[in-house]
This record gives sequence, C-alpha cells and structure tokens, in this order.
Amino acid sequence: MDRVLITGALGQLGTTLQKVLYKKGDFVIATDIRDATKKIECQYEKLDVLSYDELQRIVEKYEINVIYHLVAILSAKGEKNPFHSWKINMETFQNIIDVSIKSKIKKIFWPSSIAVFGKDSNLNFVPQNAHMNPTTIYGVSKLAGEKLMNYYYHKYKLDIRSIRFPGIISMETKPGGGVTDYIIEMLKASKKGKDYNCFLNKDKRLPMIYMEDAISAIILLMSANRSKLTISSSYNIKGFTATPEEFYSAIKSNGYKIRINYKVDYRQKIANTWPEDLDDTKARKDWGWHPKFGLEKTIKSALNI
Ligand code: SER
Repeated sequence: MDRVLITGALGQLGTTLQKVLYKKGDFVIATDIRDATKKIECQYEKLDVLSYDELQRIVEKYEINVIYHLVAILSAKGEKNPFHSWKINMETFQNIIDVSIKSKIKKIFWPSSIAVFGKDSNLNFVPQNAHMNPTTIYGVSKLAGEKLMNYYYHKYKLDIRSIRFPGIISMETKPGGGVTDYIIEMLKASKKGKDYNCFLNKDKRLPMIYMEDAISAIILLMSANRSKLTISSSYNIKGFTATPEEFYSAIKSNGYKIRINYKVDYRQKIANTWPEDLDDTKARKDWGWHPKFGLEKTIKSALNI
C-alpha cells in the first residue's frame, strides 16, 4: 500500500488530490503550513517544508513511501517578492529530495507548469522539448526543478515524476495568485451574479485543464511503469485551450447574465510569454493521457449544471 505524504495539501491541487487518494484507499497524511480550517478526512499535520527536521520527523513517523510535493508560490503572486518565492519553491524542493533519498522514498510527484516557457518556445504550439526561457520567478523555479529532477534521477535513481500543468480550473479553493486564475474568478463571480473585471485581454488564448482531468493525469502518471517514461523531466499536457471571451460565451449560454469588463494589468505581460497551445503527444503515448473535459463540459461541471 502507498503511504502518502502531501505537502501544500490545502492549496488548489492538494485540496482535491488528498480526497481522491484517500478514497482510493491510500494511507494519506495531508500537510500544509496553516491549520486546517475545513474538515479533512485523512490525517492532517501542520508542516513547514522549509524545516528539514520537521519534514523528516513526519516522513519517519508515518513510514511514508510516496510524496506529492505541491508547495509553491504561483506566477503572479511570486513576482511581488521573487527572493521569497525562490526560497519557498526551491528550498522546499531540495528538502523533499534530500529526505527522499535518505528515507528511500519510492516515488515523488512534483508539478511543473506552462510558466517554464517563454517567447522563443514556439508559443502557438509548444513542443515537449521547447526552448525554455521563463519570464517569472515561478517559471524560473519550475524550470530549475525540472533540471534538478532529471539530475537526481540519473545520479540517485530517484523516481520523481512531473507534469507541466496548464491553468487548472476548480471551484473548491480561492484563486491563489496565478495568471490563469482569471477563469476561477469569472466562474465564482457568475455564481454570485456579479459582473467581473478580467485582468487578461479577451482574446488571450491559454491552455487549460479541469481539475478532474488534472487529478486523473497525476494518478495515471504515478501508476505508470517507470520503464515506459521516456521523459525524466516534466510532461506537457492540456485539457483544451480557451480565451476569456470563449469562457464568457460558454457561461452566458448556460443562462448566467453577468457582464464582463476587460481591465488588463501586469498579468497580461506574463500571459504573453505562455503557450496558446502545446503538444502533449508524449504524455498520451507514454502513460495514456487522455482528457475528458473540453470547454463546455468544464463550464457546466464547474457551475454544477
Ligand atoms: N496556474 C499557474 C499560474 O497561473 C500556472 O502554472 O501561475
């Protein structure tokens, strides 16, 4: 049986992932830097992953053998204090790796992001092995993590697996400082019947994925036979691509009558260096990636229609 530790378990991915893994029958310890405010079904421990000793104590106490390391400061929020963002994103990563080698952790999942790309990544259809010159500290730290996971795999045979997530759409948590979070804000405003000021241009296309698909992708990748994985850094995936205006039309066509204003800010500049679309055939071939949610289905599910 997998004995799982999740870090950042109260964040966007963690909130759903801990429930799914627990229901699947894994032994799960959810951890985060805050006290858990909502009821959590699995066991919970408050943990600052910057503290190596605390991390090691928990890994040993619960005889953990699989780690999902989800702690991160996202793209837009990260720009407010790049030094702090680097510290959180990279020092926690290094602590996880170090503890994993010492405690013989058999598998690690760590999310990367479309933020690793930049203007010279062929943004209209980004290949798996694109040129990567990220523009945000978040993207720089994700790219550094990708290089490190490849390094540790070859040096220590550490089995660490990763997906470059596009914008993840879910309604369970508050938007957490990402550029793609505009769609979550738009959906939440729609539900409340409030007009919405969108911080990206109406025609800014970005790759997106619905949470249910994001979780299936993680489970598929983590259960794949390592010999089938031809990439020892991170895999491109997408659910679909969309613009704010396309999301808005889909929301309207489901009977929501909100208005949308476009008040573009610094986040547009970041989005301009991210893919409009990308090639995820490696993920499809190597571990059977196949999204179930397109734009319409995502909007209906997010709005409970
Ligand atoms: N959703 C993330 C962000 O916008 C991208 O990984 O920061």
